[in-house]
Amino acid sequence: MEPTTAEQYRRFASREARGSSPLYEQLASGVAGDPDLIALLSSLPLAKRQPNLLFAAARYVAGTPADYQDFRRSVLDHRDAVVATMLSRRTQTNEAARCAALYPLLAALPQPLALLEVGASAGLCLLPDRYGYDYDGRLAGDVDSPLRLSCRTEGEPRFAVPGFFGPGFFGPGAVTVAWRAGIDLNPLDVTDPDDVRWLRTLVWPEQHDRLRRLDTAIDVARADPPRVVRGDLNARLGEVAAQAPAHATLVVFHTAVLYYVPDAERATFVEQVQRLDGHWIAQEDPGVLPGVDARLHERPPADVVTYALALDGHPVAFSAMHGGRFRWLSA
Ligand SMILES: C[S@@+](CC[C@H](N)C(=O)[O-])C[C@H]1O[C@@H](n2cnc3c(N)ncnc32)[C@H](O)[C@@H]1O
Repeated sequence: MEPTTAEQYRRFASREARGSSPLYEQLASGVAGDPDLIALLSSLPLAKRQPNLLFAAARYVAGTPADYQDFRRSVLDHRDAVVATMLSRRTQTNEAARCAALYPLLAALPQPLALLEVGASAGLCLLPDRYGYDYDGRLAGDVDSPLRLSCRTEGEPRFAVPGFFGPGFFGPGAVTVAWRAGIDLNPLDVTDPDDVRWLRTLVWPEQHDRLRRLDTAIDVARADPPRVVRGDLNARLGEVAAQAPAHATLVVFHTAVLYYVPDAERATFVEQVQRLDGHWIAQEDPGVLPGVDARLHERPPADVVTYALALDGHPVAFSAMHGGRFRWLSA
């Protein structure tokens, strides 16, 4: 059974915002117990009731509130504009730091790669070769990139990652991208000021490091923006995958996307992606991919949203929702 809106906000407060954003934790707990705000949300389609969407829309319209009373006042005072923003915009948080978990898997595949990201937002995760990485003090990726993503790792890779924590893995060249493309219901444009303002508003208020990272990733992307085509992942997957050059290893990947896709369409996507001649990397809440979930030998932590990183349907690591940490799973 779907959780009620109040439960959804309570859960967001305790599992997502706690420890990451004191303001969003306070706002989410406040909304959960506020009949006026619950009534406002209930007038919206189910998919438009999410905490991230409401909080970002309120900040987009009226700035970041000081506390719950300030937030409540600004939402009720600017109700029409907040609702219009929620209806016209989506939660499209684009987090380049998620590339740090993808990178070792990409490095393990035959190079060069043809990267196809579904649910790409502005395409910032389509640039794993253009970022630098610092894995527990060891550098990888493009070490000269203006964006260096720090990532703590735990455990031993349970499958062959050539040179992981060895000489072959580090420095430029471990991941070579011959072709890249994205698919999104609503591609965001890194050169459009309104899209950039929305992307910046989606970053949680106290997370200044994330905002700096986003700004730097946008600068990297603007130098040569990745192509992201408009459309549904199922409708366009085959056609866009067919454009990849034959000499490159096709990798279809997605991070934090399938939660937004209804169950039947997710199943169709999994069937389609498994039929392609290439590899498939998923970084998602394990609950949204039953095939990955069934292969997990241990449960992810219950108190915080954690993604399962899976290669060709086999889970290999747990990763943090906004990047910065991952743990290899034992076989
Ligand atoms: C939370 S964002 C994640 C963006 C990016 N993958 C990342 O991890 O930074 C989810 C994205 O998936 C897109 N999306 C949701 N359902 C989709 C569908 N059926 N087809 C294509 N894109 C979809 C949304 O528009 C949004 O840009």
